[in-house]
Amino acid sequence: MEKPEYHILVCGSFRGAEAKGVCHQKSSLGLLPYIESEIVDRGLDAMVSSTSCLKACDHGPVLIVYPQGDWYGSVDEEVADEILDALEEGGKAEAHLI
Ligand code: FES
Repeated sequence: MEKPEYHILVCGSFRGAEAKGVCHQKSSLGLLPYIESEIVDRGLDAMVSSTSCLKACDHGPVLIVYPQGDWYGSVDEEVADEILDALEEGGKAEAHLI
């Protein structure tokens, strides 16, 4: 298995078997297909996955980029674009870090 250069985690708000948290209420799971599509369009060596609640609900929707370990808050498609733009340039979307 080849490991991607970047792993993007999007909070899916799962607590037990159900997505119940703030990020889900703010449509975080809708970001998954959008980011997946952008990764392909941009040719990024990245994968995106959903997670359980990341315990940063006040900042939701929350997204983390590894290996940098950068946490972003209030992520919508526009912010996701800024994060992906920054990744392409080898940087961070500083304005959205939490
Ligand atoms: S529901 Fe996303 S951080 Fe808690």
